[in-house]
Amino acid sequence: MHDNDEVCLCHHVTLRKIRTYMQRENPPVASLISECLGAGTGCGWCIPYLRTLHEQHKSGDPLSLPVAHESYASNRQCFAKTGDRPDDTSSES
Ligand code: FES
Repeated sequence: MHDNDEVCLCHHVTLRKIRTYMQRENPPVASLISECLGAGTGCGWCIPYLRTLHEQHKSGDPLSLPVAHESYASNRQCFAKTGDRPDDTSSES
């Protein structure tokens, strides 16, 4: 996923915006990322990814999501219809 790709598709919050928010606010818990333009407060698809990003931030690692945005977006469409996450995303939570 690239910096300008949306991590939260519901609220159009990009990886870059989340990175900037993390650097500026240093949120103690992942749920506070919702203060970044409402990330994670829509369908819930992005919440495991936001948690991953928060863990990376707390560990001092660069924020990155090793997933192609196209598959991320299409898997989110399936999630929106069925409520199920594809197997390949469960390990990223
Ligand atoms: S994609 Fe983030 S809440 Fe729906």
